[in-house]
Amino acid sequence: MADTIDLTGRVAIVTGAGGGLGREHALELARRGAKVVVNDLGTSVKGEGRSTEAAEKVVAEIKAAGGEAIANGGSVTEMADVEAMVQQALDAWGKVDILVANAGILRDQSFKKMPIEDFELVINVHLLGTARCVKAVWGPMNDAGYGRIIFTTSAAGLFGNFGQSNYGAAKTGLVGLMNSLKIEGAKNNVRVNTISPLAATRMSEAVMPADIAAMMRPQYVAPGVAFLASEAAPTGVILNIGAGLFGVTVITENPGFVVPVEQISAETIAANWTAIADRSTLTGYNDALEQSMAVIGHVKGQK
Ligand SMILES: NC(=O)c1ccc[n+]([C@@H]2O[C@H](COP(=O)([O-])OP(=O)(O)OC[C@H]3O[C@@H](n4cnc5c(N)ncnc54)[C@H](O)[C@@H]3O)[C@@H](O)[C@H]2O)c1
Repeated sequence: MADTIDLTGRVAIVTGAGGGLGREHALELARRGAKVVVNDLGTSVKGEGRSTEAAEKVVAEIKAAGGEAIANGGSVTEMADVEAMVQQALDAWGKVDILVANAGILRDQSFKKMPIEDFELVINVHLLGTARCVKAVWGPMNDAGYGRIIFTTSAAGLFGNFGQSNYGAAKTGLVGLMNSLKIEGAKNNVRVNTISPLAATRMSEAVMPADIAAMMRPQYVAPGVAFLASEAAPTGVILNIGAGLFGVTVITENPGFVVPVEQISAETIAANWTAIADRSTLTGYNDALEQSMAVIGHVKGQK
């Protein structure tokens, strides 16, 4: 039996926690003793309308179960709202240990038909919304020498999905943000990870058949967030979670095919495409330096 993960004394902020996955994350962190700021704009899947009701309801649930929580109805699209949300946590409990950036919307459409405003909005909520939240807690966490940050990506971005160019760009942008922050936060014990969830929520119900939806309860994702919020968390990992499956997604590349410099040309690339695009020898790297050293090694090794 593994050690119990106890978050007593920890202060957490969960964005978009009024329903769906965020609500489960907030309930799970609170059940394990964390004090939680439950943020939610109370908006539709498309990001229309706002209300503090959803956040307040989750706070009431946490309190009824004996936990501590406060509601915040701000939008992650506004830096002033985000700063006020973090200040709320600092005023109430003096610190922020855990940030779960979960808030999100959809504006799905083929790229041809998509208004640029819908592209900008989705980037603003998911990618910039997450960056704003991190910006507001990054100083306090690094100064305190402790922080656990969890982003929310999607297979739609990591692997591609029709009609989700805006969402996919935002969700994969988060992985780039994590990749730098995992390095910048490491010396101060600030760890940054990303979940790639699959769960039946109002956001996914339109595209999920009923039998699959029954397997995909959002409650099955929250324990992954609790682990990444704990002292034992790794850093820089994309944790793939859904229906009881836990795995990692890794950006990889192959060793490549080295062309003698005097033969470098578009034709040489075309002639050797099968070897260049070979997927049988993919490797992941911990950072860009490790990748660069590997590339140099492959070139030297193949010459
Ligand atoms: N459900 C899935 O299978 C799935 C898969 C991959 C990724 N995700 C991601 O998981 C996260 C949660 O999604 P969900 O499925 O629970 O959907 P959901 O619609 O139930 O939850 C999203 C929440 O974010 C809130 N929100 C939206 N814009 C906001 C803003 N500007 N500021 C603050 N709150 C805002 C909404 O009010 C809502 O409560 C999202 O980031 C989503 O992209 C979900």
